[in-house]
Amino acid sequence: MHIPSPSTAVLLLLLISSSSLSPLAQATPLQDSLALDASPTSQLLVCLEPLGAKVLTSNDAKYDEERYVFDRRHSYLPQVIVMASSVSDVHTAVKCATAARVAVAPRSGGHSYEGYSLGGQDGALVIDLGGLTSVVVENGVAKVGAGIRLGQLYLELFYQGGYTLNAGTCPSVGIGGLALGGGFGLLGPKYGLLIDRIIEMQMVDAQGQLLTISATSNADLFFALRGAGGGSFGVVTEFTLLPIKPSPVVTSFSYNWKPEEYSPVLTFFAAFQSLCSDEIGIKMNAGPNGLRMSGLFEGTPDDQMRAMAPFFAQVPKPNQTDVREGRYIDAQLRLASIPNDPKDIEALLLKVAPRTRKGKSLLYPKALQASTIALLVPEDATAFIHRSAHTVIEFMVDWTRDPNTNPEQGCEACLEWMNTMYTEFLDDFKVNYGPVRGYQNYIDLEIPSWQDAYYGSALPRLKQIKRAVDPENTFRFPQSIPLQ
Ligand SMILES: Cc1cc2nc3c(=O)[nH]c(=O)nc-3n(C[C@H](O)[C@H](O)[C@H](O)COP(=O)(O)OP(=O)(O)OC[C@H]3O[C@@H](n4cnc5c(N)ncnc54)[C@H](O)[C@@H]3O)c2cc1C
Ligand SMILES: *[C@@H]1O[C@H](CO)[C@@H](O)[C@H](O)[C@H]1NC(C)=O
Repeated sequence: MHIPSPSTAVLLLLLISSSSLSPLAQATPLQDSLALDASPTSQLLVCLEPLGAKVLTSNDAKYDEERYVFDRRHSYLPQVIVMASSVSDVHTAVKCATAARVAVAPRSGGHSYEGYSLGGQDGALVIDLGGLTSVVVENGVAKVGAGIRLGQLYLELFYQGGYTLNAGTCPSVGIGGLALGGGFGLLGPKYGLLIDRIIEMQMVDAQGQLLTISATSNADLFFALRGAGGGSFGVVTEFTLLPIKPSPVVTSFSYNWKPEEYSPVLTFFAAFQSLCSDEIGIKMNAGPNGLRMSGLFEGTPDDQMRAMAPFFAQVPKPNQTDVREGRYIDAQLRLASIPNDPKDIEALLLKVAPRTRKGKSLLYPKALQASTIALLVPEDATAFIHRSAHTVIEFMVDWTRDPNTNPEQGCEACLEWMNTMYTEFLDDFKVNYGPVRGYQNYIDLEIPSWQDAYYGSALPRLKQIKRAVDPENTFRFPQSIPLQ
């Protein structure tokens, strides 16, 4: 089996965030009356009858609880939420939705920044995949249900032979959205993107057929799903992945610099990045308390220090340092801010923890690396066009609300802060880096020319595959791959 060469993922993830802004008192009122198109027709309900209590409509007590996405600003009203626990449930739900011409929105972890796993507008049929969480590792290959969240997946892989995967640090993110949009993580420099570990997928298409998708079966969809698969082509029910055996000892580290030291640290870091070994995965978080650099090194703390010595020789001394040696799973739990005890699995399943968060992104290319990487992995092997990206900056604002009273409230000042900053970066990007590029997994309704920014040269082929697989546009949301 052919595995595309890795070393294609972004080495530095720079997060610019603020969580210190206080929200405006004036909040958007919660919608309290159901929009007309949010009531299912009797035709749809009759069709869904075989699913019994797995079907939730606004008449059900659990409907509101299950009408969640990670960012509580989005409170779209689906006609129906189907709590699927088998492939056959997914099949039934999709067939009924297609017959009733209702848009389908699959939901894995619900972390879509624009709430697209609730449809991105009222009236969708949401298929919740939270019942598809099996993980089986056999002969070095992992079969993973599409509804599992990263935290639980990491624990299962660890228990079943000491494996892991090159995905993100946040434990509540779902494998579904993450794996279909690319998937960055701290093991990226060495192992590439999560899509590079996918060997096969099972997908229910708009006609309700279960398709096997791999390099040799439905190859067009194998291209499309790896990078543009979130919600546009069908419901992926299972991933077959090549798990990774991390080294037995890893070092996790975090350093903090005061805000006034942003500039020297980032300047020296940029130079260090091109010398840096692929054993190091680094994430930078620029927030109101300074610049926090955290990451993972496959090896001992001594080796980590040696590898990073050229960097530390140049930068001011951090005002906070925390370096620990342990197993990979310990580092993962730590990076996710989870106490080092697998009994805390509940903490990994933050399904109903209300949050408010909005993200935007720009992927920064660097000419030298682009040409080198293009030789290793052709840009057109998957629908993820950002392989030559050198640095991704994610701009983020987080704010907290009393979840019991009004979790959906907005924060105008927060968004304004982010938009103003983003506009400045955008202007600079356009002048110095060429056409705007953004990460489709930090999906953003306001990014300029979203089709080009997310899918670029892959667009014509994606549209062609869309027309062939989903001609009625059953899988639609405001930023789904269009037919034309
Ligand atoms: C706190 C947080 C941390 C994050 N950290 C990282 C990170 O470290 N690395 C990284 O790369 N990204 C990260 N992201 C971005 C993340 O990859 C995307 O938000 C991703 O879409 C989330 O997947 P999900 O399954 O949780 O979301 P969902 O909202 O369930 O899905 C996202 C989109 O994919 C579709 N979809 C979901 N499941 C399926 C399926 N089985 N078949 C077809 N379509 C499906 C949905 O309809 C929706 O359009 C993070 C996001 C958040 C909020
Ligand atoms: C380091 O500096 C930041 C920002 O000034 C501050 O919030 C933090 O408490 C400091 N840490 C220590 C250990 O002094």
